[in-house]
Amino acid sequence: MRAIRISHHGGPEVLGLEELSAHTTTLTNGPVDYLTLRVDIAGVNFIDIYHRRGQYPVTLPSGLGIEGIGTTESGERFFWLSALGSYAEKITVPLSALTPLPNNSLPDEDLLPLLCQGLTAHYLVDSAYSVSKGDVALVTAAVGGVGLILIQLLKARGAKVIALTSSQERVKRAIGYGADSAGLYDEMEKLVRNLTGDNGVNVVYDSVGKDTFDRSLALLGNGGMFVLYGGASGLVPPFELMRLNSKSLAIRRPTLATYTTSVSERTRRLQDLLSLREQGLLQYPSATVFPLAEAAKAHTLLESRNHSGKIGLAPWKI
Ligand SMILES: NC(=O)c1ccc[n+]([C@@H]2O[C@H](COP(=O)([O-])OP(=O)(O)OC[C@H]3O[C@@H](n4cnc5c(N)ncnc54)[C@H](OP(=O)(O)O)[C@@H]3O)[C@@H](O)[C@H]2O)c1
Repeated sequence: MRAIRISHHGGPEVLGLEELSAHTTTLTNGPVDYLTLRVDIAGVNFIDIYHRRGQYPVTLPSGLGIEGIGTTESGERFFWLSALGSYAEKITVPLSALTPLPNNSLPDEDLLPLLCQGLTAHYLVDSAYSVSKGDVALVTAAVGGVGLILIQLLKARGAKVIALTSSQERVKRAIGYGADSAGLYDEMEKLVRNLTGDNGVNVVYDSVGKDTFDRSLALLGNGGMFVLYGGASGLVPPFELMRLNSKSLAIRRPTLATYTTSVSERTRRLQDLLSLREQGLLQYPSATVFPLAEAAKAHTLLESRNHSGKIGLAPWKI
């Protein structure tokens, strides 16, 4: 079977298409049961770029990609969120990490944006910080795959949203997804002052990390919560906790795995998203799908800051 693998860290050029010996279905009697699936579509996520760059550790040589939708030999369909090696024609996943697709399922390219990215946006507003009506939220990377869903989930909970992004065209798009106010990163202080006066925001959702951390932290009001959930510009350096003291601030550094520990939790969060979609409260573009062999193009697009929404890789696509 064909798979994308890396033998050293670097740019998109380190992604190589390799022929590996075929997987077989392995339902073992050991402590962990596994199932082998044909990968129908693999998700491309920013964490794959951290793995490729070496920003998050992986043991080399390694497969890449953690998310996908696939089919077993007997025709059952599942999704998974945390199986390294998903950029492949087949994958073997622990049964506990698999979730059956919902009955009212969408085409794969419309379901995929709701998995890693949609479920992340869901736990961010529901659990990492429980958003209440009237809260003001500052959101970075606001029209990326997570960001554009996050804006809409915040609005559905009655929050006011200040969206930050990197071009005027993306600012317009953020307003289109429902942000109350949007602008370039340079404008964040002005945007927060215009909407909150001197009160500051209740919550910051920051996935850009190094480049935005200090300035967005300063825009929280008393008792505010900083949710740092990514580092697209690099990792935030070590931090002096006394900086939280003058406004009694809190910081959370969450990960999706903690908020999707069981089939029932994953299903509950996904059903919430599907229901918002059915009510017309959640809109997003279908995933942009590349052939497996074009994984490098998919990474280049995700890093370009010109894409908005989900990217997928399809082993069946030529
Ligand atoms: N902790 C978790 O549980 C969790 C789970 C899933 C994803 N995440 C994080 O959520 C973020 C969004 O993930 P995604 O897959 O949906 O990606 P994405 O938002 O579609 O793409 C990343 C975005 O980050 C912004 N960005 C800022 N500085 C950048 C830089 N130096 N290089 C490239 N992009 C930069 C860009 O938006 P602008 O140009 O608009 O700034 C870009 O579109 C990532 O940081 C990811 O690590 C975290």
